[in-house]
Amino acid sequence: MPRRRAAHRSGLAPRVTLAVRAAGGADDAAFIKSLGRECAMSSVASFRPASESKVRTAFDRLYDIVDDQSHVKLIAQRDGERVGFLLMLDGLADEVTLEPQAFVAYMAVKPGARGEGVGAALLAAAEDEARRRLLPYMALMVTEENEAARRLYERAGYRTERRLLCKPL
Ligand SMILES: CC(C)(COP(=O)(O)OP(=O)(O)OC[C@H]1O[C@@H](n2cnc3c(N)ncnc32)[C@H](O)[C@@H]1OP(=O)(O)O)[C@@H](O)C(=O)NCCC(=O)NCCS
Repeated sequence: MPRRRAAHRSGLAPRVTLAVRAAGGADDAAFIKSLGRECAMSSVASFRPASESKVRTAFDRLYDIVDDQSHVKLIAQRDGERVGFLLMLDGLADEVTLEPQAFVAYMAVKPGARGEGVGAALLAAAEDEARRRLLPYMALMVTEENEAARRLYERAGYRTERRLLCKPL
């Protein structure tokens, strides 16, 4: 993964075009639902084992919850092929301060397209959308053990604001 990145930086890799756009029709929805279900286990902590089918169902529910509220759905395409998506809520105030904010409900990149900046491009596009809506913050939740996601967010400037604690009983 880092090698491919280095190749991109040095210009040795073949040129690829990466575009981020608003999601539209049924094919985009099907792509989001399928990739989201495929990736959902990445958010499961090792000390809270969970059944894959329930975790996938939880993603279906999350998708419906997002759909029922004011939101933005973004699709990343590389050379015309869908490689990732981001779901952002734009009408949900922060529950502690009641300040307006944008919230990344979920994002995912296809396994074969990871480590090449697709996630960073999706996040940057979502932040642009949030700024356009004059939302002063972008917030999100991430599982502590999800190192790839944490690294992406930390590199993009996100800081830990609160912690969600859990203890097996
Ligand atoms: C998190 C995710 C969206 C990142 O997408 P991506 O396209 O790989 O992101 P980017 O390439 O822009 O950046 C990822 C960063 O994490 C690093 N990274 C990638 N995989 C990693 C891993 N397994 N462990 C640690 N770091 C990793 C990359 O090297 C890169 O860091 P760098 O810029 O310092 O090189 C992707 O891994 C994914 O879809 N995961 C499954 C779904 C998920 O966890 N979503 C987040 C829910 S909060």
